[in-house]
Amino acid sequence: MDRLLYQNVSIDQATIMHLVQNIFLALCTLLASCSAIEVSVPKKWSCNEDENCVPYVGQKSLESPSIYETQDICRLSCGRYGPLWPRPTGAITISQGRVNFNPKNIRVDIFVTNQDAATFLEGARDIFISNVWKECGKDCELPGNHMLIIQVRVAQGKMTLDWSTEESYVLVISSAADRTFVDVQSSSVYGARHALETLAQFITAAADNSSGLVMVSSARVVDKPLFNHRGVLLDTSRNFMPVNIIKRTLDGMAASKLNVFHWHATDSHSFPLEIPQVPQLQRFGAYSAEETYSYKEMEDIVKYARQRGIRVLIEIDSPAHVSNGWQWGPLGGMGDLAICINQQPWRQFCIQPPCGQMNIVNENLYEIMKLIYEDIAKITPGENTMHLGGDEVRLECWNASTEILNKMRDRGLQPNVDGFHQLWSEFHHRTHRIWSDIKQTGSKGILWSSKLTDPEKIEQLLPANKFIIQTWVPTSDPLVRDLLVKGYQLIVTPKDGWYLDHGFWGVTNYYNWRSVYDKILPRDLNILGGEVCMWSEYVDEFAVESRIWPRAGAAAERLWSDPSTSSREAESRFNRYRKRLIARGIGPDAVTPKWCTLNEGECH
Ligand SMILES: *[C@@H]1O[C@H](CO)[C@@H](O)[C@H](O)[C@H]1NC(C)=O
Ligand SMILES: *[C@@H]1O[C@H](CO)[C@@H](O)[C@H](O)[C@H]1NC(C)=O
Repeated sequence: MDRLLYQNVSIDQATIMHLVQNIFLALCTLLASCSAIEVSVPKKWSCNEDENCVPYVGQKSLESPSIYETQDICRLSCGRYGPLWPRPTGAITISQGRVNFNPKNIRVDIFVTNQDAATFLEGARDIFISNVWKECGKDCELPGNHMLIIQVRVAQGKMTLDWSTEESYVLVISSAADRTFVDVQSSSVYGARHALETLAQFITAAADNSSGLVMVSSARVVDKPLFNHRGVLLDTSRNFMPVNIIKRTLDGMAASKLNVFHWHATDSHSFPLEIPQVPQLQRFGAYSAEETYSYKEMEDIVKYARQRGIRVLIEIDSPAHVSNGWQWGPLGGMGDLAICINQQPWRQFCIQPPCGQMNIVNENLYEIMKLIYEDIAKITPGENTMHLGGDEVRLECWNASTEILNKMRDRGLQPNVDGFHQLWSEFHHRTHRIWSDIKQTGSKGILWSSKLTDPEKIEQLLPANKFIIQTWVPTSDPLVRDLLVKGYQLIVTPKDGWYLDHGFWGVTNYYNWRSVYDKILPRDLNILGGEVCMWSEYVDEFAVESRIWPRAGAAAERLWSDPSTSSREAESRFNRYRKRLIARGIGPDAVTPKWCTLNEGECH
C-alpha cells in the first residue's frame, strides 16, 4: 500500500528544486551566514498594447528587441512618452533599441557665446552626471568603452529667468557601434537644462551591476512648456524647514521641470529670515537660534534654485500674517509697527492664532519694508518680481486701533469697509512702489486674492497694470474667469486640489495625486500658470517630503503638458517618476501597493 502511493506521486524537478531551496534557506537562517535570499523576480519584461511594462511569459528570447531584462529598461521606450515626466508637448520618437555604457564615459561639450551661460551649463552638466550615477548606485562600472557624447548648443546666452524665458529644447539621441551621440539645442540655458533632465530620464540601471547603465539607442524629443509659471509654495513660518529640506524640494522640482519656488518665508508665527538691515525681525521672531536662515543660506538657496532653472520668489506676507518678529517697534522708538500682536480672543482679530497685522498708518513701517526689500533684492539679482502677500486681512484688528482710526478721521476716511479697503490697497501700492524703485524695472507685484480682488472693486483698488493676482479659490468659484475678463494676469492655485495641507485638519479633504493631476487650469494668455501650496501648520521636516511628493509632480505635468488625457493614462509613467525621486534622495509618499506597479494596468 505504502509503496503504491509513493509510485503514484510524480516528483518533478521543480519540486526537488523547491525542497532544496527550502533546506538551503533553513540552513541560512540557522547559520546566519548566507548573504542573499533568492527570490524569483521576472527576468523578462515587455511593453503591451496598453503601454504597460508587464512580466513577459512567452518564449521570445532576450535577443528580441522588445523584450527587456527589467521593468525600468522596458519603460525606456514603452508608450508614446516612455519614461518621461512631465511628458513632452512636441514631436517625439523613441526607439526600441538599447545601449549599455559606463557612466565614466560621459563627455559633455558646451557651445555658448558667453561665460555666464558656460558656467551655468557646466553646473547643469555636473548635476546631470550626478543624477545619472544615482540611477545605478555605486557599483555600475561596465568594462569596455562605449562613449556617451553630449553636445549642448544654446542660441542665446541671456540668463534672464522670468515668464518670457524660452524653455524649449530639441533633444536627439543616436548611436553607433562604439558611441552614442546626443545633440541638445535650445534658445536659453534653461531649455538646455530641461533637455539634460529629459536625457537623464532616458537612462536607467542595467539588470546586473557589471553591465553599467542602459539607455535608449535613439530618440528625438521636441518640447516646451505650456505654462511659464510652474510653482511650489513652501511655508517655513508655521513650522521651520531646514535648508537641506528646501534643497531637496528644489531637487524634486528640477526633476519635474517646475520653475518657481514660492518661499512663504514669514508669517505671524515666526520670522526665521536674517534681514541684515533689520536684524530685530529674526531676533524677535525666530522660534530658536537653530530655526533660522542666515543671509548667506538664503543667498545659497537662491543660487541653488537658479542652477536648476528655478526662480525663487520670497514672500514677506503683509499687511496681515505679521506678528512675531515685529514686537520691537516701541522699544526701537518707531512706534507700533504691528498691532494685535498675539492678541486674544484671537477669533475676534485674526483667522488663526497668533494674531497680528501691520500698523499701516505708521510711516516708519515703510522704512522697514524698504530695508527688507533691499536686502531681498540684493540676493535675488535676476528677479524683478516680488510676491507682496496680501491675504486674509481682518478689518476688526485695524478697527480696534485708535491710532489708525484717528489717521482715517484726519483724512476724511470713514471707518467702514470702503474706508479700510482704501487704506489697505494704498499699502499695496506703496510696497509695490518701494520694490519697483529698488529694482528700477516697473514690473508688477503679485498679490493673493482677497476682499480687495472682488471683481466689483478690484479695478479701483488694484489696477491690472501694477498687480498680478494669485487666486486660491476652488475651481467652481467664478473669480478666475471674472478677473480674466477684466484683463488681470493670474497665477492659479485651485484650492480644491492643489492645497497639499488639506486632509490633515478641520473638514478639509486629502487630494491624491489623481485629483491633483486632473485639476485643469483655464488656458489663456493671462494665466501665467499655477502653484501647489505646502502650508506648514500641520507638517514639519519629518513628513513634508511625503506630503509634497510625488503629488507636486502631478501638478508639474498639468502645468508643463496640460494633457487632454487623465491620470489613468499617466499612471505607469508616474510610478517610474516616483522611483526616480527616490533615486535622487527624496522621500515621496507611496501611491499604490508595489504589486500594482509591478503589474501595471491590473489595479485600475
Ligand atoms: C556587484 O559587483 C561586485 C563586483 O563584481 C560584487 O561583489 C557585488 O556583489 C555585486 N553587487 C550586486 C548587488 O550584485
Ligand atoms: C468699526 O467699529 C465701529 C464701532 O464699533 C463699527 O460701527 C464699524 O462697523 C466697524 N467697521 C468695520 C469695517 O467693521
